[in-house]
Amino acid sequence: MPVALELLLYLVAAVLFVLGLKRLGSPLTARQGNRMSGVGMLLAIVVTLFDHGILGYQEIIVGMFIGSAVGFWMARSVKMTSMPQMVALLNGFGGGASLLVGGAEFLKAELAGVTPTIDIGITTQLSLLIGSVTLSGSLIAWAKLQEVMTGKPITFPLQKVINGGLFAAIVGLAAYQLIVPQQVLWPFYTVIALALVLGVLLVIPIGGADMPVVISLLNSYSGIAASMTGFVIHNNVLIIAGALVGSSGIILSQIMCKAMNRSLANVLFGAFGGDAGAIGKSSEGLTVRQVTVEDAAVQLGYAQLVIVVPGYGLAVAQAQHAVRELADLIERRGGEVKYAIHPVAGRMPGHMNVLLAEANVPYEKLCEMDQINDDFQRADVALVIGANDVVNPAARTDEGSPIYGMPILNADHAKSIIVMKRGMSAGFAGIENELFYNPKTAMLFGDAKKSLTSLVTEIKAL
Ligand code: TAP
Repeated sequence: MPVALELLLYLVAAVLFVLGLKRLGSPLTARQGNRMSGVGMLLAIVVTLFDHGILGYQEIIVGMFIGSAVGFWMARSVKMTSMPQMVALLNGFGGGASLLVGGAEFLKAELAGVTPTIDIGITTQLSLLIGSVTLSGSLIAWAKLQEVMTGKPITFPLQKVINGGLFAAIVGLAAYQLIVPQQVLWPFYTVIALALVLGVLLVIPIGGADMPVVISLLNSYSGIAASMTGFVIHNNVLIIAGALVGSSGIILSQIMCKAMNRSLANVLFGAFGGDAGAIGKSSEGLTVRQVTVEDAAVQLGYAQLVIVVPGYGLAVAQAQHAVRELADLIERRGGEVKYAIHPVAGRMPGHMNVLLAEANVPYEKLCEMDQINDDFQRADVALVIGANDVVNPAARTDEGSPIYGMPILNADHAKSIIVMKRGMSAGFAGIENELFYNPKTAMLFGDAKKSLTSLVTEIKAL
């Protein structure tokens, strides 16, 4: 393939990536954006394989068929609540791929007796280091989320010092590798082994519930590793794609941290989610008011404005279709229903949007926090379904609370609040929620899906 044509096609692929990313910014265009980026990636792969004559047509088609079939099966069969685990695995594969390509290029050059230029030497070492950390770190993130290992932070004395020492050793060995004569391979294997250990040690002290932030960060690492590998194999489109993944991953991590009012350093080194995090005001002496399905149905059936606050429990209960049915019913009776979406509701970015989109809830009904917070005061009912931390007023008032300063949804400003959850268990932050003891609040205990289904039956009978 002529070089000019190759570069032109790579440019087209890069433009498709950028436009695809842009379209992912809105739920209305996200599917289209995903497809655009996918086409860009397909183009990039095919041009690369044809250009370098690495494989024949048959192998390309067979490989694409197998890869697509596995990807299709994984995407179709994964449960919505298991999505973060799947992304973790895919990040790990990305890191692993960079490690393999960087490693293969290094060994090829070594065995041929070719001394790489300093830039290629450095980027090779970086692709080995970042690729290995991403691979093992992502596997630990997957294991924590899949509950194959404990989701609690695993900490031990001098942990940060050991991690720092390990990192310094890797950098030292990588530098040595760059200057030693040919055919000395032990630093190469040692860098990989130590970086794999570092990946494990960096992720184990992070609590399972903070994993979405870590996964987004590892996603960024996998992009940087890919970008470095792009330099090693002189592939422009890999450099561009890697840089886009690297930068978008870090931006997403920052957005999540901001929405939780925590720093990235606090997420990475704060061991949040263990027993130490479980503090907050005690509920001793306070009472909760319960509501029956019948009474809640009357309240909802005659409300003018209902604001639904979905949270992690809605995803666990898989109650998205039931909530849609309830909303349709209320609207048929003349009420208005809106959904208040907190940026970190659930366990992954956009969790609630994806969940509700699955039940075909119209996008225009999903309102972002800033957009809807003022509407709560005119809402007859704030219907809190499986949400907890994102409506906890302690974030505004209790300076000692781990979530102090986190922007929350103003559910407590509504004329009345109905909270649907199974019991009085805490949410992710492990703290009491004074909203449940507010005189305006009524608790409707039970699994969200069952309660919503009963509410639908009751409202139909009104
Ligand atoms: P949470 O505060 O985690 O509360 C979820 C509540 O759902 C629990 O209190 C639980 O109470 C209830 N629940 C569980 N299963 C249920 C079921 N089957 N039916 C009804 N209720 C059920 O959820 P949230 O308000 O969505 O807040 C999200 C939290 O995750 C925040 O603290 C956020 O910082 C954190 N986080 C989010 C992300 C992203 S990107 N979304 C990333 C990292 C951390 P019961 O057990 O009593 O039912």
